[in-house]
Amino acid sequence: MAEEVEWWEFDAAEDLIDAVVGDVSFIIESALDARGQALVAFPGGSTPKPILEKLAQSNIRWKNVTIIPTDDRLVAVDNPLSNVAMIAKIFIPKGARVLPITSDAADYKLAGSAANARLADLHWPPDLVWLGMGADGHTASIFPGPDLENAIDAGKDVRAVGVAPDPLPPEAPVNRVTLTGTAIAAARTTMLVISGAEKRKVLEAAIEQGGKSAYPVGRVLDKISVPVDIYCLDD
Ligand code: 6PG
Repeated sequence: MAEEVEWWEFDAAEDLIDAVVGDVSFIIESALDARGQALVAFPGGSTPKPILEKLAQSNIRWKNVTIIPTDDRLVAVDNPLSNVAMIAKIFIPKGARVLPITSDAADYKLAGSAANARLADLHWPPDLVWLGMGADGHTASIFPGPDLENAIDAGKDVRAVGVAPDPLPPEAPVNRVTLTGTAIAAARTTMLVISGAEKRKVLEAAIEQGGKSAYPVGRVLDKISVPVDIYCLDD
């Protein structure tokens, strides 16, 4: 179970945005000071976009920062569902290196192996993995379904796998590639950003249930041994 989970609650979106931007900027700058480079994983979906847009305005040496999506949908980069396209549009103009983890492999399992091979070349572990969470308790693209156990832990050196969610999530009903729970747990820092009472209730239950949770986020958090900051926008 995560050493400790610390909740940071906000009533106003701009306060949550400022808090997340401040903390992520500090993590990146600390990594640059310590190692001259930073590797960060950002989530897809709708919640992070305004935060990422504000973060990109921070005065950071972006050319020494590598950004990967925590997960991505297996769609072309010109598809509005593409997470890496959303991240690239914001950070490539700042000079950051944004790396896709998708490929046009026909089969989602092959796409997972290709993602894993791509991540094998990176300085590991990530300095930060920033997660979102769906109302069904998925995080990254670790979803209930036939690939759940493999996505949580496919083995010590497996950093990414392919996933066919079952049921397919209505907001993005496609197969995906995702960081594994093991890869997420390897990060120097992990944080979660969610909004709304429904997600908060799911997350509180998942934390309570830990490794036995039916919610993937509970299983993933159970693997993390560093403190996890949770930023929650209350509606
Ligand atoms: C994705 C994300 C995913 C996301 C949740 C929440 O590709 O869908 O990485 O894990 O964080 O689905 O998405 P929202 O923030 O849009 O609710």
